[in-house]
Amino acid sequence: MQSASIPPTTPRNRIARGDCIRMMQQLANDSVDLVVTDPPYLCRYTDRSGRTVANDDNDAWLRPAFREIHRVLRRDGFAVSFYGWSAVDRFVAAWREAGFSVAGHIVFRKRYASSTRFLRYEHEQAYLLAKGRPTPPHQPIGDVIDWPRATGNRRHPTEKPVEILRPLIEAFSAPGDVVLDPFCGSGSTLAAARDVGRDFLGIELDPAHFQTARTRLGLQS
Ligand SMILES: C[S@@+](CC[C@H](N)C(=O)[O-])C[C@H]1O[C@@H](n2cnc3c(N)ncnc32)[C@H](O)[C@@H]1O
Repeated sequence: MQSASIPPTTPRNRIARGDCIRMMQQLANDSVDLVVTDPPYLCRYTDRSGRTVANDDNDAWLRPAFREIHRVLRRDGFAVSFYGWSAVDRFVAAWREAGFSVAGHIVFRKRYASSTRFLRYEHEQAYLLAKGRPTPPHQPIGDVIDWPRATGNRRHPTEKPVEILRPLIEAFSAPGDVVLDPFCGSGSTLAAARDVGRDFLGIELDPAHFQTARTRLGLQS
């Protein structure tokens, strides 16, 4: 079953390479069913081997990207956005300015610390954002989700496990819907969407991560 409101021109099961703000400008209003995304956390992340994340050192993209995300999301739809807790004020301001209301907050409980300073930092976090007045899911999921394992970040310096993404996609979309991740990295959201019978649309700026995602989703020519 597909949402009748989504235009037939919306690309499906594709990954685009480039700046998501410009790429989303090519999509029609109200043209995707769900957004699940993991944007840069605005924390100047560097892993042990020196890998960084593009645009993690500036927020020039933040407001325009979420304006586009809100525009392309269908009316009365949901977006789930991970975010960096140290920049929560900037994320919340950008979401509200774009027109989203806050519908929930999700904590992902890790069994290990990503880093340690003032605390042992043992969770990730995302907001559930609403455009308009979406219908609540038939069976709402809990807002604390166990992080099943360290991914090892083999594909990407901040790779998310697909196991935490699948229940979000199942709760907030229907089979055949189009799920957009405009900061798709190695394609974890896209793989999770495909696993649960949704179509996907990914955008990634970094050519190496774009290629990783394409290979992962079997889109190599
Ligand atoms: C936190 S990572 C996503 C990781 C992903 N969830 C995974 O599991 O692989 C954010 C991604 O957004 C990409 N990015 C940053 N700015 C972007 C932009 N303007 N347009 C598209 N992608 C962008 C980065 O290259 C990075 O791969």
